[in-house]
Amino acid sequence: MKTLIFSTAALVLISTLYLGIQGAWSNNDDPSHGLGKWQNMKARSTGVAPVTNTLYAEECGSCHFAYPPGLLPSFSWQKVMTGLADHFGDNAELDAQTKQQITKYLTTHAAESSNYRRSRAIMYSLQATDTPPPLRITDTPYFKREHREIPNRIINLPKIGGKLSRCNACHQRADKGSFNEHEIVIKGLGPWND
Ligand code: HEC
Ligand code: HEC
Repeated sequence: MKTLIFSTAALVLISTLYLGIQGAWSNNDDPSHGLGKWQNMKARSTGVAPVTNTLYAEECGSCHFAYPPGLLPSFSWQKVMTGLADHFGDNAELDAQTKQQITKYLTTHAAESSNYRRSRAIMYSLQATDTPPPLRITDTPYFKREHREIPNRIINLPKIGGKLSRCNACHQRADKGSFNEHEIVIKGLGPWND
């Protein structure tokens, strides 16, 4: 009985803390970064849902790998899409209609709307911070944790050019939404053996 009371108290405490964090995020003027109902979904497949939208794949896959939308919450995608004129130093501006269609695709397939395991892991990692989600996948706590063991001599190989944003330079099946660590073959080096 004591254990039961204790676990209930712990659960209430955790929920309160969690709601506190969610409240802090909701204070931001963009209301779309709420965590949504993702916690209630059952985790299904590993990886993330692959890209299914050809307009997105063409427009956002010309300079770099077309990142699957489940790698960021809609809050981040909104921010990326409203700042395309100065996109990480490049101009990636689109006409209003194309921009609207791509924004819709990205935000409806964002991490908090996906039950793929990696999307959920990203949401958990964001939930644990009280800062708004970053613009970059590579700046999410989950990403940083998964890649912290990669030495600079690998990151600075020519095919990677110091940029961990080049997912497909190492994850051979990134375009299928698969980031399994047993499928990593680093371009210019070879398979990754942990
Ligand atoms: C004109 C080239 C260009 C186009 C087109 C482009 N991007 Fe980028 N994008 C960049 C550059 C450059 C970076 C920064 C790469 C780096 O330094 O790591 C970047 C980075 C990103 C990142 C952060 C990657 C990370 O996690 O570090 C996201 C997300 C992104 N782009 C989304 C998009 C979306 C969505 C579109 C389509 C609307 C798009 N990009 C179109 C050039 C482009
Ligand atoms: C320099 C090569 C490299 C690049 C670029 C890279 N990764 Fe990774 N990634 C790795 C390695 C190596 C691991 C496994 C780390 C370990 O075993 O500790 C990993 C692990 C992961 C994992 C966890 C896999 C698992 O089975 O637990 C995910 C998810 C992931 N990466 C996604 C990405 C995404 C998304 C990008 C692009 C934004 C990216 N990675 C860019 C090398 C890379």
